[in-house]
Amino acid sequence: MSTQRIALVPGDGIGPEVTAQAVKACDAAARRFGLDLAWEEYELGADYWRITGQVVPKDVEQELAKADAILFGAVGDPSVPPGVLERGLVIHLRTAFDQYVNLRPVKLLPGVPTPIEGLRPEQCDLVILRENTEGAYVGAGGFIHRGGPDEIATQESVNTRKGVERLIRHGFRLATGRRKHVTLVHKANILTYAGDLWQRTFEEVAAEHPDITVDYVHVDAMCLYLVTQPERFDVVVTDNLFGDIITDLGAAVQGGLGLAASGNLNPTCSAPSMFEPVHGSAPDIAGRGWANPAGSILSAALMLEHLGHPEAARGLEDGVKAVLPRLGAMRGPEMGMSTEDFGDAVAAAISESR
Ligand code: NAI
Ligand code: MG
Repeated sequence: MSTQRIALVPGDGIGPEVTAQAVKACDAAARRFGLDLAWEEYELGADYWRITGQVVPKDVEQELAKADAILFGAVGDPSVPPGVLERGLVIHLRTAFDQYVNLRPVKLLPGVPTPIEGLRPEQCDLVILRENTEGAYVGAGGFIHRGGPDEIATQESVNTRKGVERLIRHGFRLATGRRKHVTLVHKANILTYAGDLWQRTFEEVAAEHPDITVDYVHVDAMCLYLVTQPERFDVVVTDNLFGDIITDLGAAVQGGLGLAASGNLNPTCSAPSMFEPVHGSAPDIAGRGWANPAGSILSAALMLEHLGHPEAARGLEDGVKAVLPRLGAMRGPEMGMSTEDFGDAVAAAISESR
């Protein structure tokens, strides 16, 4: 088997604490399933910016571009102006590497407390695909008379046929290997231009997939159904802003931010995809050793799947599933097991799996 090079960017705060556990789990899976993974670590983040004045220099970006995948922790530090690292690194790489799909599973794992009383794991297993390069996040807009009484601010949402179509097509491809149901989430009754483009494109792609059932849900109704009837959904496709909001709600439904995983995918593989937990650098708990590494390990599982190792990916997920029920109080500051012990237990479960 040929070596696959993974660029590791631990970042700030709890980023290095959780990614260390994900690396441990991947290495255990590599031994167990016969993969050849080579890690290259990049010390980007707050310290790097303070010392060099740069977020990600061109030559480092070119090296990252050559990796088979990127495993990312989180960036952000109270000493750095907000946005410098988050926009300069995370958003920048998503765009530079054309990672147009932001994939976030919303899956309730057995033994995990959810705020939705009575919700069972078999009722909550969906994947949200958020468009990751366009929409309201392109930075189009401006001010007129800024600071004055007649100030005007505009923030435009950019939606291209190409961008909308490639995201929707990925949704249908993914649904083919799942429960064969795709839901479009938008606000097409009010946002009649962008919504129209999304709906027309969705209907055209749907017509090519007669074996897949489809549905349309307004984003406000989605906030209701995601909580009350998550079993309605298999694959969900939506735009950048709506996806940002509903995936945080999804994280809450599945038991919290510490468990939520994501992949920034470039399905064409013209550049590497990047995998990261949904949470940030959590400076409030950094250094205490109690950050939950499940989100990072489950993101690494998405990475192994993307690299063509579904068995190893399942090994990581099964490892997390085996350890989660052993935790005491998962909510509140302490999860009832140290970050390190959690990672060791997952790695041991992977090594012992048959
Ligand atoms: P956050 O996700 O870092 O933390 C929110 C809350 O959840 C905190 O109370 C934290 O202690 C808790 N938490 C987060 N992850 C946890 C885990 N694995 N285990 C246990 N508890 C966990 O979001 P916040 O506080 O808004 O942002 C902190 C910094 O992270 C900021 O600089 C922000 O810009 C940055 N950030 C970076 C992201 C990235 O690199 N992709 C994403 C989100 C935020
Ligand atoms: Mg968000």
